Amino acid sequence: MENDIKKILISENDIQNRVKKLADEINRDYKDKDLLLVCILKGSIMFMGDLMKYINIYAKVEFMSVSSYGNSTVSTGSVRILKDLDMSIENKEILIVEDIIDTGITLKYVCNYLKGKGANSVEIVTLLDKPSGRKVDIKSKYVGFEVGNEFVIGYGLDFAERYRNLPYIGVLNESMYK
Ligand code: IMP
Ligand code: MG
Repeated sequence: MENDIKKILISENDIQNRVKKLADEINRDYKDKDLLLVCILKGSIMFMGDLMKYINIYAKVEFMSVSSYGNSTVSTGSVRILKDLDMSIENKEILIVEDIIDTGITLKYVCNYLKGKGANSVEIVTLLDKPSGRKVDIKSKYVGFEVGNEFVIGYGLDFAERYRNLPYIGVLNESMYK
């Protein structure tokens, strides 16, 4: 698997340090609030796992699965909910935990959906932001790192369901896409 990687963009160490900083901000901003972390499967699992370890205030966790890509590396633009929330979110402060915002279409849809279910607030913490890919207007309250217009894998992010288990963010060799 390691032979498929062209370069490491963000090291394991840099990710961990940044995730701790994000958790510090969340601990401060959501103290005394009814915080619900909503992890978007499957890309956000590692980020969620690390982030929640560093969150030291009361927090509940939920998981949602949405699909907008299939096995392609470019967004298809249509969003489907594959797994919905289990608990009521009325009056809760929602923080969506996302791996990467590219076009923004997925999160725009999810945000509107959760607002429609009576949440008090709906905000986003994304590990990665790819501003060059944006097609709809969406604001993330917390961003780990900005990345350029390349397809990244690792730390939860996949290409055709592989590479999620890498502990860093990297770029694949071009030959892997053919
Ligand atoms: P958006 O709707 O275009 O913002 O797509 C967001 C979703 O697409 C993310 O949650 C990822 O699952 C996936 N995605 C977008 N860019 C990448 C990438 O560079 N590598 C892996 N997955 C990506
Ligand atoms: Mg995702």
